[in-house]
Amino acid sequence: MADATSHSVPSHVAIIMDGNGRWAAARGLPRVAGHREGAKAVRRAIEAAVNHGVHYLTLFAFSSENWQRPAGEVQDLTFLLKHYLRSELAELDAEGVRLKVIGERERFGPALAQELEEAEHKTANNKRLTLVLALSYGGRAEIVAAARRAIEAGIKSEDLTEQNFANFLFTAEVPDPDLVIRTSGEQRISNFLLWQLAYAEIWFTKVLWPDFCGRDFASALEEYAGRERRFGARPV
Ligand code: IPE
Ligand code: IPE
Ligand code: MG
Repeated sequence: MADATSHSVPSHVAIIMDGNGRWAAARGLPRVAGHREGAKAVRRAIEAAVNHGVHYLTLFAFSSENWQRPAGEVQDLTFLLKHYLRSELAELDAEGVRLKVIGERERFGPALAQELEEAEHKTANNKRLTLVLALSYGGRAEIVAAARRAIEAGIKSEDLTEQNFANFLFTAEVPDPDLVIRTSGEQRISNFLLWQLAYAEIWFTKVLWPDFCGRDFASALEEYAGRERRFGARPV
């Protein structure tokens, strides 16, 4: 069993939190009820990450493609995000959680974008866990934006390396995820961290996100601990 002292604990866990809509539909509830319940699962995931000694937790909360959903659902998700931030920030800060946002936050409007930025500033010196929230995030958009920034910075093509290119991504200074979890039974990446997941271990579960709990997190870590990561090389 993986524990906080084991080297087989992933330093960075990323989660594609999927299945809120199906959770609600199964109960005859509107989709927003699933998103609301999903916010409670976010608290459980953060607690589990802290308890297991994980250093980085990235949560895919809203994708670039999710803007295509009906306006009402986008509004509900934006409202819940705002509400989550306001109700949880003080406690996250007290627990030593540093918040970092990746994605095109401006698309949520200047007020929320600024609130997110203030939350990052407020928690900037916390050391226990870095919580990376992927909001209006798309992997391809991130890579194109990084290429633009590299060009704007005047990098010569012969000087461009995997290492310095990674510094232009939203995730500069965040190590690549070791383990990615996707709930709800779907087995795809859905444009999540395309660059950063190059060698991540992937764990799928049929559990719908609103039902995700500490035990599920522990199961993922347990399976991770038993895997052999080779990175293309020969086993030692
Ligand atoms: C995940 O749940 C939340 C977001 C993508 C914002 P979904 O809303 O995708 O739920 P399903 O996949 O329809 O069940
Ligand atoms: C991925 O879930 C995005 C988030 C969890 C935020 P989706 O429900 O949007 O993905 P697809 O459409 O099933 O691939
Ligand atoms: Mg979904």
